[in-house]
Amino acid sequence: MFRIAPSILSADFARLGEEVRKVIAAGADWIHFDVMDNHYVPNLTIGPAVAQAIKPHCRREDGAPVPLDVHLMVAPVDALAQAFAEAGADLISFHPEASAHVDRTLALIRSLGCRAGLVFNPATPLDLLEWVIDKVDLVLVMSVNPGFGGQAFIDAALRKIERARRLIEATGRDIRLEVDGGIKVDNIRRAADAGADTLVAGSAIFGKPDYRAVIDAMRRELAAGMDDTRRAA
Ligand code: DX5
Ligand code: ZN
Repeated sequence: MFRIAPSILSADFARLGEEVRKVIAAGADWIHFDVMDNHYVPNLTIGPAVAQAIKPHCRREDGAPVPLDVHLMVAPVDALAQAFAEAGADLISFHPEASAHVDRTLALIRSLGCRAGLVFNPATPLDLLEWVIDKVDLVLVMSVNPGFGGQAFIDAALRKIERARRLIEATGRDIRLEVDGGIKVDNIRRAADAGADTLVAGSAIFGKPDYRAVIDAMRRELAAGMDDTRRAA
């Protein structure tokens, strides 16, 4: 049920295909792909050509596909969403501030055959989610300000995750709740306890020599949290 989504923002860009294969072999469930445009955020990263190049590497050894989770930090959104869908994205999420017509952009992403996600910055309220939640497959709560890897987790995100979890439960639909920014072995459980089921981690994984050791330690934290919940029930 929990998904760990390593962010390749902190991977070695000179060996990206190999890094993707290595982190999948180490237990990654999704590959998180951060797109920054030096306009919506003050940084510039990777585009659709890179997504297309790594797509064939997004498979387990047994051939099972690993979802490519594209996080767009770009404005405007629609043309690039289309380009990433063509490049092989499975999920495409965007920031509501970056689209003039959020409802239309969500519908566009789905019409391209991808799951659609909406991303909430630390200071962005969840208010608009109520009006579009029927078109959303993923809610992404930012626990840092978007733009850079390696920043410190902002605690207020936990309350937002709790609220998002309640809104999602009320729909009865299968909507993933992802948290992104500053997730490490020592705080992943707090995010999960608040209600997150999909955990992005960049520097915590790619900053360490043994990816499997980090992902295993994260899973142990998540499993321990589940045991505690059961004991309390
Ligand atoms: C931040 C990105 C994150 C980032 C996470 O704008 O959206 O995905 O790579 O990196 P860490 O885990 O290092 O905070
Ligand atoms: Zn991200």
